[in-house]
Amino acid sequence: MNSKVLKQTIAEIFANGKGILAMDESTPTCKKRFEAAGIPQTIEMYRQYRQLIVTTPGLNESIGGAILFDETIRQQTDDGEPMVKALMKAGIIPGIKVDMGAKPLPEFPKELVTEGLDGLRERLAEYKTMGARFAKWRAVITIGEGILTDACIHANVHALARYAALCQEADIVPIVEPEVLMDGNHSIQETYDVTEKVLKALFSKLYLFKVDLEGIILKPNMIVAGKGCPNQNSVDEVAEATVNCLRSAVPASVPAIAFLSGGQSPKVAAEHLNAINKNFKDRLPWIVAFSFARAIQQPALDVWKGESSNIKKAQEILSSRAKIAAAARRGEYNS
Ligand code: 13P
Repeated sequence: MNSKVLKQTIAEIFANGKGILAMDESTPTCKKRFEAAGIPQTIEMYRQYRQLIVTTPGLNESIGGAILFDETIRQQTDDGEPMVKALMKAGIIPGIKVDMGAKPLPEFPKELVTEGLDGLRERLAEYKTMGARFAKWRAVITIGEGILTDACIHANVHALARYAALCQEADIVPIVEPEVLMDGNHSIQETYDVTEKVLKALFSKLYLFKVDLEGIILKPNMIVAGKGCPNQNSVDEVAEATVNCLRSAVPASVPAIAFLSGGQSPKVAAEHLNAINKNFKDRLPWIVAFSFARAIQQPALDVWKGESSNIKKAQEILSSRAKIAAAARRGEYNS
């Protein structure tokens, strides 16, 4: 492992107040999003959409790294240029989603474990030759009646630690993503307690598997109440709970935290990130940025509608959402 290379990649991704764009929706997720937007769900339409993103003028003013799906890293733009090359030319570092999805955990109904460790060393080697310098693995944690179990936490943080170690062996920065879902009626306190427990278990496992904490990016959820909870909290309350939770569980040696948006609206996700950076800047030992998918992409996808005549408008909206996220990263977003 070359920790200098890992640190350099992280420094480049987050330089000048930038963050990460997650554009690594798997085929089933893409299908779901396109269906909802009334766009034909074909590989060609997915390619055109990804092309729209990677050719957005000025995207690198706010985006330092973009996470791709296996399908996209193998695709080209209309000009025959690999999508990865188009990103690199634009000054954006390509990353790759390497997990194989969250699958039912046997004997634990409604709980999931993320798979994809088999053959991962070889897949990382291939992705590296294609230009990927960082990777992503998402574990899914659900709060509900009788769940979360210790078995679910244990299985998921074990996989995250094994994945992270394999990435670092290949000089690829691992984004370590334990996502506690917003789905459910749980309160903000429950999200806090579960996230804290998961993060503590995660860092203990990362230590056990000799993962260099200075060479990872943590991608957590913000501390918000479940979508179905009648008591939703103010922006400042969410920011405070999130900062307290992270301070209690994330070592200061981790260089950067990049939040997922998790189904929050683009505006609310940006407001929360902004309040964290604005209200608590003296309490953050890490870079606190974003690795949003929906909170940057969704408005652009809705405007595009699969029509080439809407590309320019969609790109403008994408670029503006990315700028807002970057402003929030600096604590300078005025909603
Ligand atoms: P959202 O920002 O839409 O939650 O997606 C982030 C992500 O990449 C989840 O793995």
